[in-house]
Amino acid sequence: MRTFRNLLVTGGAGFIGSNFIRHVFEKTDFAGRIVNYDALTYAGNAESLADVAATFGGRYVFLHADIRDAAAVREALDRYEIDAIVHFAAESHVDRSIVAPDDFVQTNIVGTFNLLQAARERGAALSLFHHVSTDEVFGSLGPTGFFSETTPYAPHSPYSASKASSDHLVRAFHDTYGLPVTITNCSNNYGPFQVPEKLIPLMVLNALEGRPLPVYGEGLNVRDWLHVEDHCTAIWTVMARAESGSTYCVGGRNERTNIDVVTRICALVDRLAPPLPSGAPRESLITHVADRLGHDRRYAIDCSKLEGDFGWTQAYTAENGFEQTVRWYLENPKWVDSVRTGDYRRWIERNYAKRG
Ligand code: NAD
Ligand code: DAU
Repeated sequence: MRTFRNLLVTGGAGFIGSNFIRHVFEKTDFAGRIVNYDALTYAGNAESLADVAATFGGRYVFLHADIRDAAAVREALDRYEIDAIVHFAAESHVDRSIVAPDDFVQTNIVGTFNLLQAARERGAALSLFHHVSTDEVFGSLGPTGFFSETTPYAPHSPYSASKASSDHLVRAFHDTYGLPVTITNCSNNYGPFQVPEKLIPLMVLNALEGRPLPVYGEGLNVRDWLHVEDHCTAIWTVMARAESGSTYCVGGRNERTNIDVVTRICALVDRLAPPLPSGAPRESLITHVADRLGHDRRYAIDCSKLEGDFGWTQAYTAENGFEQTVRWYLENPKWVDSVRTGDYRRWIERNYAKRG
């Protein structure tokens, strides 16, 4: 069982990273310090951890810094005597990678390389580099079958190609230099604090506000939805117990077509929020729009290695997880406002306008 003293969490102001930091402080026996290393791009929001900073201030440090800056990375690892890194920081949205792939290469590939180099320079002081990756590196499934740890890589989007590249670099640093690493590849996360460019929060907020619900194509693409808290327990388990050099796939055992997800969300918002002024059910807002370029048809994860090796399992079901998530967005308008203004809005206006 590994234990850690000073954790560097990259991308800790983002969706999964902020949930992870809260999880480690509140739900595990970790007694050390967490340094949240984040550049606060449009997707980073310091508000997401305001409560953690207030409660765990002595053990929580926020560093506004960029992983593309190799010197800043090195300086952070040395200054805070980091013994483990959990690497979330990335450009994470597929649609953005289609309109503007440059940042994906710089952050996801070069940024990961900078971290690996600095981690290697710490020598024996570094006990683990945990890399958070995605099932999108495996490409797209047909109607049957699952991704697992032995599935060959076949990424399609600039986003997934950049993540695949970062996974290969992490393995190369383990195989070549003996850097202690673990990797998790997981399916679509949902839950509190997710930027509303992703399917579930976008649909919740548009449904609440009576705006169109843009479903790509026929809405028959399939994703395997995993509650972010279940993802956090999986990462912490792998970090503590997995052999160096190993990979684990993490999934929700919760496959759904997009149209099924959107319809469920409409029903939840109808039940939990005031009705639309027209009285129409939210489902009437569903609008089929042009499909995403190169849209992967189906993702589904076989997580039996993680279940078998460590007894990990999901605590959330689709029913309670989706309802908890919808309630969270309805109950946190201040957070929603904080994320929908500033850089996020400016980026959407500048780049998506070009697409028409
Ligand atoms: P996110 O977009 O919500 O957050 C990314 C965070 O990284 C932000 O806080 C941002 O400010 C920070 N960041 C971006 N570029 C940076 C840079 N150059 N230097 C420092 N910080 C930078 O992402 P997320 O959804 O929380 O995803 C986290 C990780 O998990 C990513 O590596 C992603 O590929 C992976 N992942 C996500 C999902 C999902 O469903 N969201 C599923 C599987 C894997
Ligand atoms: O599978 C893991 C991946 O899941 C992560 O690696 C990515 O970081 C994360 O963004 C997510 O990628 P997806 O592309 O699957 O997620 P997104 O929420 O963008 O879309 C989910 C599905 O919904 C996908 O089939 C596209 C569709 N969609 C999405 C949006 C934003 C729509 O139909 N309409 C929309 O407006």
